[in-house]
Amino acid sequence: MPENDKQGLSVVTCTAPVNIAVIKYWGKRDEDLILPINSSLSVTLHQDQLKTTTTVACSRNFQQDRIWLNGKEEDINNPRLQSCLQEIRRFSRKRRNTGDSTSDASSVSHKVHICSVNNFPTAAGLASSASGYACLVYTLSQLFGVESEQLSAVARQGSGSACRSLYGGFVQWKLGTQLDGKDSLAEQVESESYWPELRVLILVVSAEQKSVGSTSGMHTSVETSQLLKYRADVVVPSRMEEMIRVIRERDFPAFGELTMKDSNQFHAICLDTYPPIFYLNNMSHRIISLVHRYNQYYGETRVAYTFDAGPNAVIYTLQDHLPEFVQVVRHFFPPEVNGEEFVKGLTVCSADLSEELKRDINMEPTPKGIRYIISTKAGPGPCVVKDPNHHLLGADGLPKKSAISH
Ligand code: DP6
Repeated sequence: MPENDKQGLSVVTCTAPVNIAVIKYWGKRDEDLILPINSSLSVTLHQDQLKTTTTVACSRNFQQDRIWLNGKEEDINNPRLQSCLQEIRRFSRKRRNTGDSTSDASSVSHKVHICSVNNFPTAAGLASSASGYACLVYTLSQLFGVESEQLSAVARQGSGSACRSLYGGFVQWKLGTQLDGKDSLAEQVESESYWPELRVLILVVSAEQKSVGSTSGMHTSVETSQLLKYRADVVVPSRMEEMIRVIRERDFPAFGELTMKDSNQFHAICLDTYPPIFYLNNMSHRIISLVHRYNQYYGETRVAYTFDAGPNAVIYTLQDHLPEFVQVVRHFFPPEVNGEEFVKGLTVCSADLSEELKRDINMEPTPKGIRYIISTKAGPGPCVVKDPNHHLLGADGLPKKSAISH
């Protein structure tokens, strides 16, 4: 329940995770409601390494809705933001009218102040829209008393992939068949504790902004790529079934192979788009080669890559293979000596590399090709932050200094 102080200020703070798809969402059948042309499946990453934190305050004294993102005030009239706000208020009123809301009856008509920060740099190249919209919608729902089953449809209207960040572990977003999108929802396949050996590395190769945003990229793909239609109609339905099965069986080689094939197909569709879209760069291609050569050496899939709308790689592997693979990355992409910490996040033990492995991989090292690695694993869905000291908005309803300097 939100706190309600003497000035009538109600405040709630929540956090939400990033997710990385292993069956990619690419293409909409309805751009207003954000309905996809295919189902997708992702792994929710742990919030200890990557999360968005959002505080929402409402008060009868606020004159207008306002939002601050990573310390800067942004335009509240952004259409997707407006959709989320309107939908949450509509669900809240509906619930109040049916008499089963526990929230303060008047608060839904009050204006809100929203303040949101990420604990990861934008330079990490990770789309922050998924964790951002999931966090916004979840926090608003806590403030206005909206049921959790309604949130997937609201977060989806902020950013498609955001609906998958509402759950922890392994999450599918079913495309649905209804025109109004009521059945286009995310649901958990397995929780974050189901496959504890699974580990995730984010290889940050570039600080550049991505060239084409996913929204406009997928729009052009839908208009021009014939391959995309084949992917949505034929490939993804069977891949979704297979992906759920291999996750349930904790079959890493099958999971890894399917993950890589789906990433490759997504980027093939980007090339089939006219004009073509290039998200991968030379460093991404080198990482792809390295992973295949490493797996080839062992004669099995021990490591898998996936790439979204940018050049950074996300690697899935098992805990047992992690130290050696990180050492392989360090060897073939030697970091700057005395530079910033190379491996951030969960500790990775050191490992020795055999001369035979290095020789067999047979690649020319690329110094400073990878800026740093974030080491993480699967994690839980959104959480409420109880400690009022962690609110990003002060008693005056404005961002605290700590939220601005973030
Ligand atoms: C390549 O969810 O960012 O990351 O719905 O237009 O906001 P909008 O797109 P967005 O697209 C994500 C695309 C992707 C694949 C994925 O996450 O499934």
